[in-house]
Amino acid sequence: MAEKPAVLFVCLGNICRSPLAEAAFRLEVARIGLEVEVDSAGIGGWHAGEPPDARARTVAKRHGVDINGYRARKATPQDFTRFSHIVGLDHENLAALKAMRPANATADLSLLLDHVEGRKGEAVADPYYGDERDFETTWADVSDGARALARRIAKA
Ligand code: 4NP
Repeated sequence: MAEKPAVLFVCLGNICRSPLAEAAFRLEVARIGLEVEVDSAGIGGWHAGEPPDARARTVAKRHGVDINGYRARKATPQDFTRFSHIVGLDHENLAALKAMRPANATADLSLLLDHVEGRKGEAVADPYYGDERDFETTWADVSDGARALARRIAKA
């Protein structure tokens, strides 16, 4: 890849799943020594400016990443030229991204778990109305996706 890759993870609120995907991906790219810009955003802006959900912060910390400094923001049309890869966490996120994609978009749009062998078409479930165990499941899912995506970008 000629330019440094840049990956944006997108969920609905940008306080649960996509910050965890960002954290897991940052861990993985640091581990394998891949230089890549990383961010996350939400389809909705209800939580803009807020830190991630407390349960997401707890699960990330348990797995070695401090996400207290992350702040939620809404995805914008400019993201489609700023990022090389925009990755939706579920099918609704992906559909919303496709609907807002501007004509000059250059970003590759995908569903996170489509990158994982044997998990094509699977969504990362929204843990917002769940409990701590659901957030652990989210962590496992986004880590799976992050590893596969990092491997794919490293090979490109
Ligand atoms: P996320 O979870 O999309 O994983 O950040 C949600 C957080 C907030 C809302 C929905 C989902 N909400 O409706 O406020």
